[in-house]
Amino acid sequence: MSTLTEEINKRRTFAIISHPDAGKTTLTEKLLLFGGAIHVAGAVKSNKIKKTATSDWMEIEKQRGISVATSVMGFNYGDYKINILDTPGHQDFAEDTYRTLTAVDSVIIVIDAAKGVEMQTRKLMEVCRMRKTPVIVFINKMDREGKDPFDLLDEVEAELQISVRPLSWPINIGQRFKGVYNIFEENLNLYTPSKQVVTESVEFKDINNPELERYIGEDDAKKLRNDLELIEGVYSDFSVDDYLQGNLAPVFFGSALNNFGVKELLDCFVQIAPVPRPVQALERVVKPEEENFSGFVFKIHANMDPNHRSCIAFVKICSGKFERNANYKHVRNGKMMRFSSPTAFMAQKKSTVDEAYPGDIVGLPDTGNFKIGDTLTGGEELHFKGLPSFSPEMFKYIENTDPMKTKQLNKGLDQLMDEGVAQLFSHQFNGRKIVGTVGQLQFEVIQYRLLHEYGAQCRWEPISLYKACWIESDDTEALENFKRRKFQFMAKDKENRDVFLADSNYVLQMAQSDFPKIKFHFTSEF
Ligand code: G4P
Repeated sequence: MSTLTEEINKRRTFAIISHPDAGKTTLTEKLLLFGGAIHVAGAVKSNKIKKTATSDWMEIEKQRGISVATSVMGFNYGDYKINILDTPGHQDFAEDTYRTLTAVDSVIIVIDAAKGVEMQTRKLMEVCRMRKTPVIVFINKMDREGKDPFDLLDEVEAELQISVRPLSWPINIGQRFKGVYNIFEENLNLYTPSKQVVTESVEFKDINNPELERYIGEDDAKKLRNDLELIEGVYSDFSVDDYLQGNLAPVFFGSALNNFGVKELLDCFVQIAPVPRPVQALERVVKPEEENFSGFVFKIHANMDPNHRSCIAFVKICSGKFERNANYKHVRNGKMMRFSSPTAFMAQKKSTVDEAYPGDIVGLPDTGNFKIGDTLTGGEELHFKGLPSFSPEMFKYIENTDPMKTKQLNKGLDQLMDEGVAQLFSHQFNGRKIVGTVGQLQFEVIQYRLLHEYGAQCRWEPISLYKACWIESDDTEALENFKRRKFQFMAKDKENRDVFLADSNYVLQMAQSDFPKIKFHFTSEF
């Protein structure tokens, strides 16, 4: 086997997603503990923006420093090289999370046993479904009172629209929680609350072994046997293929805080989770084991230093080996570029790397050359697909309040949009610029950064809009007719594509039924 293939087979690149507070940060930390990437609990500074800071932008600014460090966490576990891509928990940054999901090969979803499937989880799962990303579900906080595990499984199936298969099974919950039976490995893990220690497991190939009573008592042994029988009856056998195709989610139960059930999750994860997968470019499918390097920018992180407007572009490697100081083609602008100090993210540290492989993320220092979705290659013209922009949910007109700084404002806006902070539309009717975001916070972010990084000032003015959707049609005449009839509601996005601005759900529905030849899209990728 070539070194490249060996390196690829070692890699597991994934993201943990959850509704805020379900336990993503806690689980991440425990996984890093197993990988030896950190040595004490509490070492992971949460990338999440605490709820209390919802409108406190300065607080977020402080936390941005932390989130660079925790953007990607690489560590070795046995023979595997694991890359966890962090996603911001705050829902106003959901767009960031969506994009991060384009750079992972699989996902672990954390669900709070008491709360079940929550709103943010549902939304993120939509993105996974769209991309057929394999997901594993971890049901957390079993040490607290929560819902019945069978009910939880039904809820996951119904709400996340995916078949499930439990691979571990809890013995009671809350105060009476005694542990889990690991169906995948056929052993019993007894629960002892602890923050650091890995619990010992007892092998139990045959669940009917009377020894079981000795460990968990007569009643619980009986119930466990019944539950397992029911599981075998109701759920089909676990199929790795179904999981890899994104049709089946294996489910684990545990308590991240108590480091319980986490090792089982990790051990199963490394065995079944996909290695870096082929990536669809506009031109062709690119396989990881191809010799020539290729990768795409999925995230741009602006630096904290406002005087140097420098950024880090996060590149996911899709194929070949990435080498420091080699010449690579920036496909969008046709320039060849060399990177003398690319960074890798290992054990929570950023350090210069000489080479990196498919599945890895490298951080490239940048001064405005990159935008989200850009492709780097060894020379080939490739454009990677799959970085959709979602239809924003909040809109405001942006007005320049310092006419002397128009140039700075435009430049700043341009770069912030390239970073993917928000989306910019120009109204065809009145020529005004509209900024669309997924959360209120972005407006503050934009205003603050325009002032501090570009010296430009702006003001927001309200506009009543429900949705902006991209439109297209196979029938050019129908499209032109629509655009004429709806002239007052038409805008262009930054790529000069046609966008319909609907001011209410009713208007949108009417437009959809009145103009059947027009396709309305809620993501920019179609
Ligand atoms: P998030 O990143 O998904 O937002 O969640 P995070 O890990 O920060 O966890 C949210 C809260 O839930 C934290 O408590 C955390 O300690 C708690 N938690 C996580 N896993 C478990 C678990 O298995 N059992 C129990 N009982 N609690 C769990 P907090 O009080 O909000 O924060 P902190 O002050 O403890 O940091």
